[in-house]
Amino acid sequence: SKPVTLFELGKMRAEGRKIVMLTGYDASFAALLERCGVDVILIGDSLGNVLQGQKTTLPVTMEHMIYHTECVARGCTRPFIVTDMPFGSYAESPSQAMRNAARLMAAGAHMVKLEGGAFMAETVRFLVERGVPVCAHIGLTPQAVHQLGGYRVQGRSDESAATLKADALALEQAGAALMVMEMVPATLAAEVTASLTTMATIGIGGGVDCHGQVLVLHDLIGVFPGKRPRFARNFMEGATSIDEAVTRYVTDVRECRFPGPEHSY
Ligand code: KIV
Ligand code: NA
Repeated sequence: SKPVTLFELGKMRAEGRKIVMLTGYDASFAALLERCGVDVILIGDSLGNVLQGQKTTLPVTMEHMIYHTECVARGCTRPFIVTDMPFGSYAESPSQAMRNAARLMAAGAHMVKLEGGAFMAETVRFLVERGVPVCAHIGLTPQAVHQLGGYRVQGRSDESAATLKADALALEQAGAALMVMEMVPATLAAEVTASLTTMATIGIGGGVDCHGQVLVLHDLIGVFPGKRPRFARNFMEGATSIDEAVTRYVTDVRECRFPGPEHSY
């Protein structure tokens, strides 16, 4: 079938069809995700955790992200490819972000993802105006783990909920087409989603009402040795192959059976 484009993702959003995103880091899994129907492959800087065994995503470099983007891009043709900008590669200035985003696009990304709220809006606009589609990422932003004091649910207080809503609007106005919301109470994520007019929300621990969902591949297939977060589900339970597990994730997201309340906050 036809390659997924930004236009197609916008149509899915408008028609209420869920966007299915999953992380992938190599060519073989990119091909597997493609044949199971995944719409968007994220080369997440979670590769620091699940491939490299790092405690955080902070040590991940541009070279790592380029290498894995090239591997994924060689393995598939239909999915839309999003690559995380690693810590320290974009927050300094719009021009620093553009310089590094260009390298990721040249490696095969169709969009870059960066963490941060309204303070990143100027950079988002700068990239979008220059032909680089952007996925924002708010709520629990793992690159800020030391500032946030751990991997904790965000937006619980009235004040932080209001900030999150304002962040989402600022990022939408700046031109971000997608926005990951990580570890945000489901009711708040639903309110944010309903408040937007063009940007599609992608939840991970953000409840079932986002426009789409994302998970880390290693959590989905139960091979990550760390403690599984509440929002993740091991789809290998009851499945006889990885293909079957990923296909179940795809259909469960499309039919709003995942995430359930037990995976949400
Ligand atoms: O790095 C990653 O895999 C991510 C997703 C969890 C959204 O940012
Ligand atoms: Na990430």
